[in-house]
Amino acid sequence: MSATVNVNGRITGDRDAVVSVFDHGLLYGEGIYETLRTYHGRPFLYERHMWRLRNSARMINLPLPFSDAQMASLIGDTMAAAALNGDEAYIRVLVTRGVGDLTYDPKATPVPSVIIIVKPQVDPAPEVYELGVGVVIVNVVRNHPDAVSPMIKSNNLLNSVLAAQQAIQRGAFEGIMKNYRGDLSECTTANLFIVKDGAALTPPLTSGLLPGITREFVFEIGKAIGVDVREVVLGDDDLFSADEAFLTSTTREAVPIVTVDDRTIGNGRPGPVTQALLAGFRRHAYAAQPSV
Ligand code: PDD
Repeated sequence: MSATVNVNGRITGDRDAVVSVFDHGLLYGEGIYETLRTYHGRPFLYERHMWRLRNSARMINLPLPFSDAQMASLIGDTMAAAALNGDEAYIRVLVTRGVGDLTYDPKATPVPSVIIIVKPQVDPAPEVYELGVGVVIVNVVRNHPDAVSPMIKSNNLLNSVLAAQQAIQRGAFEGIMKNYRGDLSECTTANLFIVKDGAALTPPLTSGLLPGITREFVFEIGKAIGVDVREVVLGDDDLFSADEAFLTSTTREAVPIVTVDDRTIGNGRPGPVTQALLAGFRRHAYAAQPSV
């Protein structure tokens, strides 16, 4: 691994990037994050990521000590130090509760820690898009919305880690989690769509999932290219009887799913609706760049 890291304004290589063992991010998993990537060297959908970061911060009562413009300039400094030589960047922004005594009382930690990790964006292999991937349904349930809400993009990721471990053990590209009611929610690090009769369907936020920015963008691409994209509560049967399925995330765009638990989805190949949405997504991502 080679990364450039900005810890509270100090930019170093990955080996020299350190935080205190008394940081409540480490002690209690108390913090939030965003993962962004660049297209043409500029962070994509920056304002939306900052909006979600602020929403996550609000939901854990964490005041953020920077404006969007200040964060953009911190990211810019870190990217400049990373000198990616034309590679696109993976950017992870973390904000933790900060350093303080061993107590849950936020008064002990008045100053949040702000960390930015920049490294080259590594795209999935071309076969992932050309052949599609296999996923599994895991038996770790997605967080109950009244516990640590899936709306919070939280550094407290143990539930997702346990779910992902099952997927990894079973040799799957991703694991799909259900919610406490037994409906499909999302993957461990991505949102889930199925395609039925030409329409792309994804579980609503009330199914308990992260409001993915790629997911949201797929709705807009759908409008632009004439594909109906809708929110629908989905169960196993919907998935197994789907014509196509795919997952979405910032770092992987839209990845076709061709098997679930070793059962074939559709004809077992990436389908036309998935491919049209992926192509539309990439076209718009490279063309429409909000500047930082
Ligand atoms: N993961 N659902 C979960 C649980 C996620 O962690 C992510 C993002 C998504 C997709 O959201 P977006 O389209 O905004 O990236 C959905 C990022 C990539 C990560 O964990 O690094």
